[in-house]
Amino acid sequence: MKTGERANFGSKIGIVLASAGSAVGLGNIWRFPCETGENGGAAFLLVYLLCVLMLGVPIMIAEFLIGRHSHANTALAYKILSPGTPWRWVGRMGVLAGFLILSYYAVVAGWTLDYTVQAVANRFNVMAASDSTGQVFTEYFARFVADPWWPVAYLALFLLMTHLVIVKGVEKGIERSSKILMPVLFLILVVLVFCSLSMPGAAAGMEFLLKPDFSKVDSQVVLSAMGQAFFSMSLGMGCLCTYASYFRSDANLAKTALSVGLIDTCVAVMAGLIIFPAVFSVASLTPEAGPSLVFIALPNIFQAAFGGVPVLAYLFSVMFYVLLVLASLTSTISLHEVVTAYLSETYHLSRAKAARLVTAGCLVLGCLCSLSMGVFKEYTVFGMNFFDLFDYVTAKLMLPLGGMLIAFFAGWVLDRRIVWGEVTNEGSIRFRGFQLFIFILKFVAPMGIGLVFLNELGLFRWL
Ligand code: PHE
Repeated sequence: MKTGERANFGSKIGIVLASAGSAVGLGNIWRFPCETGENGGAAFLLVYLLCVLMLGVPIMIAEFLIGRHSHANTALAYKILSPGTPWRWVGRMGVLAGFLILSYYAVVAGWTLDYTVQAVANRFNVMAASDSTGQVFTEYFARFVADPWWPVAYLALFLLMTHLVIVKGVEKGIERSSKILMPVLFLILVVLVFCSLSMPGAAAGMEFLLKPDFSKVDSQVVLSAMGQAFFSMSLGMGCLCTYASYFRSDANLAKTALSVGLIDTCVAVMAGLIIFPAVFSVASLTPEAGPSLVFIALPNIFQAAFGGVPVLAYLFSVMFYVLLVLASLTSTISLHEVVTAYLSETYHLSRAKAARLVTAGCLVLGCLCSLSMGVFKEYTVFGMNFFDLFDYVTAKLMLPLGGMLIAFFAGWVLDRRIVWGEVTNEGSIRFRGFQLFIFILKFVAPMGIGLVFLNELGLFRWL
């Protein structure tokens, strides 16, 4: 496939922002605090940062170079780079992972839509006025997610929004929206960090997030941190590989990966700084609250910070939820794009038709996940409901496995000249630390991830 036949991102900054738009989303603002809370706080954060640096950034560069060199969707990329080998299954597994992630991710994204509507209708202020303990928000969340209709309706609406952007195409839809939304989101997060730090539980929250207790690091913590790093950076499933296939030839892959990693990590840490002070300030919340954590903590933060001036509480909560919706949207778009590009290029379908199939499929699976919080609560697999199962299988198994294979592919299988050519743009830019980069791809990433898996399976205990 020639470059000219495919759409391209228009500008370098557009490339960084679109990739960051994929990376920054519910993974940072909802999943990161949730995982940090369940895995003991600061020790988890430390392992997470290590994973981002040692695995995340190098594997992101690997995905970028695979995508840009092949100019194809992720499954086709391996076919082009290593024809006739089973490597194409790595791409296919990524497409499947993307499909599964989108299905349950859109459920949570749907919740953010409801919270936006509630914020716009001023319901949070009214709820807060009826009960100063914050218990109302806990009850509201529990009631809402267990409802058989509303979460499903919002899930459908969110998938529809994603669908419409995807059908519009790469540059107009994805790039333009990311360029405006990302900086605004960042600004509002900064304001919220300051608000949250002024809450009564701020000191305890900060200690939880920043004072590591290494006795808490066990195999679960390491696997969770690794999975979270992959999930948050959109790695291990060919998402950034697909985006990179739209990159121009003068994009600096290493620099882009570093910027995206940095932006993504900053947003996650800021979300932690926002959520944990609030968690320790609200009697009805504990850090282990799981998926409900952010949804209960946030309305409390707005009330605590601006409750005295309801107009401000109103404005800030509306703005925040709108941005959360948009941040989720740039991520669901990237997930959808992986599957749509695969279907349309492999089976020669029009983009619109491929997109319709993806949206419909995700709607069915998404309903299953959504209802597993309520009417389907009793149905569990390995003790997990469908929602948790989807999350576990994708984030803790498929993404790290995908990341491991991608690193192995770029380190051992791909011609070194291709790797060098891509990261240096055929020698026109410098890439310091090339040997280290290759060493990580060849040994550190595959062995590190492999050991965590072996440990998890109980085959080789070192933690
Ligand atoms: N990284 C996204 C987030 O943090 C989620 C995502 C995962 C997107 C995998 C694409 C691929 O919200």
